[in-house]
Amino acid sequence: MFSSSSLADLPKPAQYAALLEQAQALMSGESNPIANAANISALVMSSLPQLNWAGFYFFDGQELVLGPFQGKPACLRIALNRGVCGAAASSLQTQLVPDVHAFPGHIACDAASRSELVVPVLRDGAVVAVIDLDSPAHARFDDEDARGFEALASLIATRTRTADDDDNVRITS
Ligand code: SME
Repeated sequence: MFSSSSLADLPKPAQYAALLEQAQALMSGESNPIANAANISALVMSSLPQLNWAGFYFFDGQELVLGPFQGKPACLRIALNRGVCGAAASSLQTQLVPDVHAFPGHIACDAASRSELVVPVLRDGAVVAVIDLDSPAHARFDDEDARGFEALASLIATRTRTADDDDNVRITS
């Protein structure tokens, strides 16, 4: 099976180039959203430094529902008007939060989290999921991380089918 080595020693552009290449290889030939999100979570968590949570929330048409992730157990459902994830999903914009304690309505799933990056996964301009990254370090994420994860989100969107494509992989409950 595919194994990844830590990318921590590389500069960020090289980290994300390698991450995208590995993500592409992992999703090659597979379009199931749960399988792909599970492997991408594991890839991100095992490759990038200073993370304590990496994973997905899927949009079920009403709210965000917890998907595959690595880290401590997290809240199951997030309304679109709540938290950093809700802000990313409702605005369709990446949320870069250097200090989670300064973000109104931040939902603390792990008390160790200090900074957060949430990137929407968009298909045909609509949100289908968000990628959520938490770090125990203050201001862990910058614009290079945001662009890197936006590129990953766009790769996932093109490689992964949704409920609209196939009722058998419907994420909604
Ligand atoms: N902090 C997120 C909630 C999800 S956990 O970080 C995994 C938020 O405020 O939306």
